[in-house]
Amino acid sequence: MKNILIIGAGNMGEAMLRGWIKDRSNLNQFYVREPNPSEWLKEMDYKNRLRLNPLYIKCKIDVCVFAIKPQLADQVMIKTKKDLDKDCLVISVIAGKNFKFFASILNESLSVIRVMPNTPVSIEAGVSALIGNKFCTPSQIEWADNFFSILGRTVILEKESLINAITAISGSGPAYIFNLAEILINSGRDLGLSEEISKTIVLQTIVGAGLLATKSEISPSKLRENVTSPNGTTEAALKILMNEKNGWHQIINSAINAAYKRSKLLAKN
Ligand SMILES: NC(=O)c1ccc[n+]([C@@H]2O[C@H](COP(=O)([O-])OP(=O)(O)OC[C@H]3O[C@@H](n4cnc5c(N)ncnc54)[C@H](OP(=O)(O)O)[C@@H]3O)[C@@H](O)[C@H]2O)c1
Repeated sequence: MKNILIIGAGNMGEAMLRGWIKDRSNLNQFYVREPNPSEWLKEMDYKNRLRLNPLYIKCKIDVCVFAIKPQLADQVMIKTKKDLDKDCLVISVIAGKNFKFFASILNESLSVIRVMPNTPVSIEAGVSALIGNKFCTPSQIEWADNFFSILGRTVILEKESLINAITAISGSGPAYIFNLAEILINSGRDLGLSEEISKTIVLQTIVGAGLLATKSEISPSKLRENVTSPNGTTEAALKILMNEKNGWHQIINSAINAAYKRSKLLAKN
């Protein structure tokens, strides 16, 4: 059992907390600092081993999770520093704040793990990428890996700089898929389907294709080939989508590069 302090329970902080609280095997004690707690969070106070905005914390904090906006990180960390012993494990989901930043504000030799989750963690279907600094022990990494596995899949990175690639692909990724869903739903409506039917078939197609690709031994390329019969309807659409000159690979590559560059720039600033 660990004493876990969560700093910031907005969109991401609360999404993660919901998953951790739901997990019955999780015997950790959570302390949450959040200036504007949601109704759910207020209701959870004193239940399920969760204390909201405690005036002071008597016990030693084993793990501190920072889920605040990057622009607040300096001031909030300076305030939190006094609560963190030198053997506390710091976990940060703050985009763009690197190990150097934590070393400059907190105790320089603290173990820090940066995590880039995505919003499906709120339904335990997220993906989180983890990278630890040089002070992290293998058991701390293993613990954090298990902790985030409660919220979906995890991957462990080898270099801190790869966090920018993760941010561009899976961090921002749900928004790309939501936008694809919007476009497909509109296309369905243009073809005469009702909003409701179009939405149902689009969302279930995204879920079904994702599950099939995840559960199958076959690669996404092969799965795509398998549903493309010569001169069929899928081929007619894919000829346009996969066009060498102006197919969607180009627009997707430029979009991902834009997100990647932005992530690097935010980290620099
Ligand atoms: N959302 C995503 O998809 C996603 C994905 C990966 C990583 N992240 C990272 O997660 C972090 C949080 O993002 P978010 O979308 O959850 O932002 P958010 O909804 O604004 O949540 C941040 C929360 O921190 C609270 N806060 C402000 N000052 C605080 C303090 N002194 N002590 C404790 N809590 C304080 C804010 O309260 P107020 O509302 O009162 O300011 C807010 O509720 C960001 O750094 C982001 O880069 C987000």
